[in-house]
Amino acid sequence: MSNTVAVDCWLLSSGVSSFTSTSKLYFPANFSRKPRFGSNTIRASATTNGSSEDVIYKALLCGRRALLSMITLPLVMPCERIDNSVGAIAADESFQVREEIRKVLSKGKAAGVLRLVFHDAGTFEIDEKTGGMNGSIVYELDRPENKGLKKSLKILDKAKSQIDLVKSVSWADIIALAGAEAVSLCGGPSIPIQLGRIDSISFSFKLMAFIHLSTRCQKLTMRKPLMVQDPEGKLPEESLDAISLKQCFERKGFSTQELVALSGAHTLGSKGFGNPTVFDNEYFKILMKKPWLSSGGMTSMVGLPSDRALVEDDECVGWISKYAEDQSLFFDDFKNAYTKLVDTGATWKKAL
Ligand code: HEM
Repeated sequence: MSNTVAVDCWLLSSGVSSFTSTSKLYFPANFSRKPRFGSNTIRASATTNGSSEDVIYKALLCGRRALLSMITLPLVMPCERIDNSVGAIAADESFQVREEIRKVLSKGKAAGVLRLVFHDAGTFEIDEKTGGMNGSIVYELDRPENKGLKKSLKILDKAKSQIDLVKSVSWADIIALAGAEAVSLCGGPSIPIQLGRIDSISFSFKLMAFIHLSTRCQKLTMRKPLMVQDPEGKLPEESLDAISLKQCFERKGFSTQELVALSGAHTLGSKGFGNPTVFDNEYFKILMKKPWLSSGGMTSMVGLPSDRALVEDDECVGWISKYAEDQSLFFDDFKNAYTKLVDTGATWKKAL
C-alpha cells in the first residue's frame, strides 16, 4: 500500500526532477524538463530509446506486478481535483519561492505577470472539468489571446530555474504566487497563496510513469511528459457585453461581484486607469466617470470594451460604485476572488 501511495504522490508532482519526498522513489536520474518559449515544445533530457508502445511492452515483461499495476491504476489515479486542504507546502518553503520571485519582479513587469495568472486559471469550466490553474499557459503562448505573455513567462522562468535547484515547484504554483506578489508590489493587498498545485500532464505519461515505478523496472526508460493544453476559447473576449461576461464567469463558478472585483486587475497596465504600476481603486473611480463618452483626446481611449460594458449593467454598477468609494473593500474582495481564481479547478498534491 505504501508503494501505491508513494507512486501516486509522484504522479501528482510535476517538474519532477527534484522530487524527494519519499526515499522509495527513483526517477530516471537525468530527467529534466524545460519549456522553450516561442516554440511551444518541451525539451527533455530523459533517455528515450523506444516508442511508448515499447516502454509499455517492456513494463509488461516485468511480470505480475505490472499486471497488478494496470488493474489497480484506476484506483490510484483519482488525482484530479482534490480538496485543497491537503498537500500544503510548508510556510518556509513558500517563503523561499516568494523570495526568488521577488528577485525577478519589478513594478513595470507586474501587469504582465498578473495577466498571466488569468490566462492560465481563467480557462476553467466547472461542467467540463477542464482548464484551471495548471501551468498549461506555458504551452499555449502561441494562441492569439495570449499574445504578449511570452516575456512575462520568461521572467518567471528565471525564478523557477533557481527554485527547482532546491525544490521542484509547478508552473501553476509559480504563476499563482507571482501574480499575488505583483499585486502587493504595486501597493495592493497581500494575498497568501497555498502551494501544491500540479501541472497538467497527459494520461499516457501518468500511465507509463505508474508502470515504471510500480514495477521497479530500473532499465525501463521514460519518455518526456506530454503536457496537455486546455481547450481553446474559454477566456472571455474583450468584445463581450456585460451579460456574456457574467455568463462566462458563472461557468467558471464566479459571481458578478467576483467578476467586477477581478476586473479591477485592469488598474494595472496601460489601459488608462490611473498609474499603470499602482494597484488601487482608480479603475472603478474612472469607470464611474465614463471618460470615453467625452469627445476627442486621450480620454476616449480609456478601457477595453469589456470594461466599458460592465458600467452599463445595473448589477455590476452596484459593485463598481462600492469599490470606487471604498478601496479597502475592493482589496478584501479582490484578495478573496484572486484566491478562488488560483485555487478553483487546480489539482493538488496529496499529503504523504
Ligand atoms: C473580465 C474579462 C477580461 C477580459 C475580456 C480581459 C481582456 C484583456 C485584454 C484584451 C487586455 C489587453 C492586453 C494587451 O494589452 O494586449 C488585458 C489586459 C490585462 N488584463 Fe485582462 N481581461 C479580463 C479579466 C482579467 C482578469 C480577471 C485579470 C486578473 C485577475 C486580468 C488582468 C489583466 C492585466 C493585469 C492586464 C494588463 C496587462 C499589461 O498591461 O501588460 N484581466 N485584459
